[in-house]
Amino acid sequence: MKIILLTGIFLFCINFVCAQKFENLALTPPMGWNSWNNFGCNVDEKLIRETADSIVSSGMKDAGYNYVVIDDCWHGERDANGFIQPNPQHFPSGMKALGDYIHSKGLKFGIYSDVGAKTCGGKPGSRGHEYQDAQTYANWGVDYLKYDWCNSEGLNPVGAYTTMRDALYKTGRPIVFSICEWGDNKPWEWAKPIGHLWRTTGDITDCWDCEENHGSWSSWGIMRILDKQKGLRIHAKPGHWNDPDMMEVGNGMSFSEDRAHFSLWAMLAAPLIAGNDVRKMTKETREILTNKEVIAVDQDALGIQGFPAITEDGLEVWVKPLANDEWAICFLNRSNAVKTINFDWKENFIKDDSFQKQLDARKITYKVRDLWAKKNLGTTETILKTSISPHDVVMLRLTK
Ligand code: GLA
Repeated sequence: MKIILLTGIFLFCINFVCAQKFENLALTPPMGWNSWNNFGCNVDEKLIRETADSIVSSGMKDAGYNYVVIDDCWHGERDANGFIQPNPQHFPSGMKALGDYIHSKGLKFGIYSDVGAKTCGGKPGSRGHEYQDAQTYANWGVDYLKYDWCNSEGLNPVGAYTTMRDALYKTGRPIVFSICEWGDNKPWEWAKPIGHLWRTTGDITDCWDCEENHGSWSSWGIMRILDKQKGLRIHAKPGHWNDPDMMEVGNGMSFSEDRAHFSLWAMLAAPLIAGNDVRKMTKETREILTNKEVIAVDQDALGIQGFPAITEDGLEVWVKPLANDEWAICFLNRSNAVKTINFDWKENFIKDDSFQKQLDARKITYKVRDLWAKKNLGTTETILKTSISPHDVVMLRLTK
């Protein structure tokens, strides 16, 4: 009798009361690769397998990239019982086999769906099939779901994302939940108990500082996305992150621009989701994406998002408090001219009021390391003298 009662309470709890997100899946910002930025709707199992192979052989896996996420357009139709099927021409071996292959490489499997009846690419979305889809994904071995916001007219965002969160939780399989709501309804205010990361903006595109107008919506260059992060840092924390969108490194910008983009995403404690063709990337792109010292800034255990402490005439000094009272500093040259830097650490007292941190080189002498040159530059006792090319950065780590 007692057992029946306890089982009843347990089942009730699982179904109604205790639904929550899976904790401890994203204590640092998730890292991986996603098909959308470079391949759009042209996804198939060959591409995904080859990408998984390249993530391992290029050293990206060693650098921390583990989620291999298939974005929009993998879908076929629903079967007679409503179960979603992959496109049979593009994924003939099925999703379980693909997930097994990704797992056999020591990587994790991510997939995409949408709150609406159709995805942004016009494929079947999860509306009305949330629990069925979540269970299907779990059966396929999915570890990460990106959940989009197209065709959401009339839906309450908190309700729509909570429904899928609960459906995922009910499967019992830990699945990272990536909320892709473009910041429309300020997810940073409500999504902490729902997802592990939430998009803060519309889509990124591979230019430094442009707006690409698509009629009813725009996509944004790196600087535009960066500027839209203002005021959001207080909402990021181990377990839930602001997501300024997947990276465009290796998709067409210059080396400096790619390097600046990567550095800033690390300063933002952003999810580092590569969006390039990793099978064919240049040595330079690989070196950017696998710079372990820059990645360590992104993945710092404290999980504090950086901010621009000083802004003047096209130059920004971004700072990010790190564990053990260390700091990451990123000098960003947004302008089209070379900038000369003469930075006296002792004259630039930096205060982070939101997280009660101070960088005071008058009281503490830090060692200075250049994370792109991979060189030690002395200490904060001496004035930093350097120059920065247009659309480039100098990124440093200060240690005691
Ligand atoms: C939206 C998302 C993108 C991508 C596409 C797929 O635009 O914001 O990241 O997933 O849909 O159609």
